[in-house]
Amino acid sequence: MRYAEITGWGKCLPPAVLTNDDLATFLDTDDGWIRKRTGMQERRISHVPVSQLAYVAAQRALAAAGQTAQDVDLIIFGTTTPDTICPNSASGVQKLLAASNAACMDLNTACTSFLYSMTVATSMVRTGVVRNALVIGAEVISPMMDWNNRNVAVLFGDGAAAFFLESSEKPLGVMAESLGCYGEVRDILSLEGWGVEYANQGRVLGDVQWQFEGQEIFKRAVKGMADACQVVLEKSGLAADEVDLVVPHQANLRIIDALANRAGVPADKVFVNIHRYGNMSAATAPIALVEALEEERVKPGSNILMPAFGGGLTWCAHLLKWGGRTQPLATSDAELPPCEKTALELVQEIIRRKSNDDTPANID
Ligand code: ACO
Repeated sequence: MRYAEITGWGKCLPPAVLTNDDLATFLDTDDGWIRKRTGMQERRISHVPVSQLAYVAAQRALAAAGQTAQDVDLIIFGTTTPDTICPNSASGVQKLLAASNAACMDLNTACTSFLYSMTVATSMVRTGVVRNALVIGAEVISPMMDWNNRNVAVLFGDGAAAFFLESSEKPLGVMAESLGCYGEVRDILSLEGWGVEYANQGRVLGDVQWQFEGQEIFKRAVKGMADACQVVLEKSGLAADEVDLVVPHQANLRIIDALANRAGVPADKVFVNIHRYGNMSAATAPIALVEALEEERVKPGSNILMPAFGGGLTWCAHLLKWGGRTQPLATSDAELPPCEKTALELVQEIIRRKSNDDTPANID
């Protein structure tokens, strides 16, 4: 029996920090409301495309695994905000890495994209289709944000992380998962203006308005993740108190608290970094797991439960069994180009660009 052991990990956060007070300079909101209702204090705004963030994270993951780019068999890029639809983002990372032996695919299930990608990569490694896989979760949401809408503009940020999986006889990596989707309510979270349907309506592609019913999403997020956690625990034969660490999707601190309550997991076993980054969609879960490793919350042999949900409304939970090594084998010197602007300046540029853009959609 083969498994897909996790041997490398790396993250890349753009340096520009957008605070709650920055948001209050152009939106009718305030630091107190955002902290109290979401747990968020700041988020990052990228000055580079998503493939560049992913490339730096991937270099760091490969170094941590002691692998070179030529060794990579498969790249799966989980994202909802690809630089281009065709060619896909995974091929962009392949080119930047010079990983010319890798098959390349993008996978979009919104915020669950990284964990769904982990399922696909693990399955392909375990069945011998590939020997290893580089799995990326990365988003640059800021250009797609509706910066006039306080209901959503305060919630999201940009970032990237990558993990390297290798075929192994040891029972490690993703040991059980539960995946699903509440498709009947898919319209309660949609990015209107991002897709061929909108081009056909004569709208400007990329001029996005968010359709977002916060409270409805909230309720289904808690139920979807809690039910998925239950299934995963049953499948893996673990009791709730045998879980060493929960690394949940970070969309709202109140969702995380409600979920931990329902899953019967004490708060000190739940990893939280929402205050630093907000919700980075597909990048959230992998960045949280990298930071749990950096903060030594992951121990050799840890049982790690990772529930998530996102647009679709997709939901999932994964049970990871960690191996013996929690330190990287090596580090990479890959870095982003310097950012000369503040996060607020980057956001103001996006707002200006959108308000001047009356170019008709063109998808020839
Ligand atoms: N600042 C100040 N006031 C605000 C803000 C803001 N940023 N946003 C909303 N409000 C106001 C509302 O207008 C409303 O005012 P009213 O009572 O005068 O009408 C009031 O605050 C309460 O609004 P609610 O929507 O009831 O606030 P709630 O407590 O539900 O919090 C939130 C809203 C944070 C969006 C919450 O519902 C939530 O987190 N939902 C889940 C979001 C989520 O999980 N997103 C992940 C998406 S995953 C993906 O794939 C993209």
